[in-house]
Amino acid sequence: MSVRGITVRGSGISVPDKVVTNADLSATLDTSDEWIRERTGIKERRVGGVTSQLAIEAGRRAIEDAGLQPSDIDVVLLATTTPDALVPATSATVQAGIGIPGGAFDLNAACSGFVYGLVTAAGLAAVGSGRVLLVGAEALSRIVDWDDRTMAVLVGDGAGAVVVEPVDGPGDLISWNLGADGTLRHLLTCDHGGYLFMDGKEVFRRAVRVVVESAQRALSDAGLTASDVDLLVPHQANLRIIQAVCQRLGIPEERAAIVIDRYGNTSSASIPLALDDALRAGRVSAGDHLLLTGFGGGMTWASAVLRWGG
Ligand code: UT7
Repeated sequence: MSVRGITVRGSGISVPDKVVTNADLSATLDTSDEWIRERTGIKERRVGGVTSQLAIEAGRRAIEDAGLQPSDIDVVLLATTTPDALVPATSATVQAGIGIPGGAFDLNAACSGFVYGLVTAAGLAAVGSGRVLLVGAEALSRIVDWDDRTMAVLVGDGAGAVVVEPVDGPGDLISWNLGADGTLRHLLTCDHGGYLFMDGKEVFRRAVRVVVESAQRALSDAGLTASDVDLLVPHQANLRIIQAVCQRLGIPEERAAIVIDRYGNTSSASIPLALDDALRAGRVSAGDHLLLTGFGGGMTWASAVLRWGG
């Protein structure tokens, strides 16, 4: 059987118009702009909308950016922890909203969801699928207790999407690493009808370790080292986590895509939001090595190494 890989073609995002600054939150919560910026790197976040609506807008933009039509897409793969409803899958709403023929399914791997989705899309390509619209979208504001300062200052809403296109040959995804440890599921939870809870200190401690290990495994499988990484696209949970990961991997912080200051933690949307920002800023050239890496509730973690544009 001939080898089929993937290339990433087209990117788009959608964020709600409403900007909530740290000063806005300080007006109702016992917190401060200084605490939030120093402990997390967040200055403001976008709040509003539902996951399907954000995903539809981001998806349309990605398809347009790729120079394609909705009819050119074969599968909608939506990574989210905040589906519009438990049933049906939100991807079905996205499929109908954009007018895409073919399959649609949701994937929940918390903040690692987009990278899990990328690897899943590559698997679909390998067995003969056409193009996949891969979206990471979240409306985390719907599951946050806005009176709980420990969570309210961290999260934001948004969506990012890419078109994943099958190509002959190995393609751009040159290695990946996925992992989970369900014995740590109590560290980050949200029950039916409940609010997000996180043991922030413990997640922080473990996050740095699992991200570094996962990234190193993916790099080693690609036959690369940290010095080969042109752009690190990390999950945006905390600027201090990104800095610690950069330091431990030996990747200068200037080579990281960072949007947490503007968007806060948007879970599965954070990696595609950061990737899109880097693409629009002209920070990615053909042949560059990109390291995407995330971690989140589960716990889950995921890394992928791409050689951009083959
Ligand atoms: O995306 C999924 C994965 N999520 C993450 O990776 C998040 C990981 N965790 C973190 O980013 C950090 O642990 C937090 C940002 C959540 C918290 O930062 P921290 O440096 O670990 O703070 P802390 O929980 O140790 O709290 C330090 C102090 C405490 O007060 P005392 O005990 O020192 O008096 C907290 O009560 O800060 C207090 N505090 C706050 N103060 C002002 C906690 N939240 C706030 C707040 N505003 N919003």
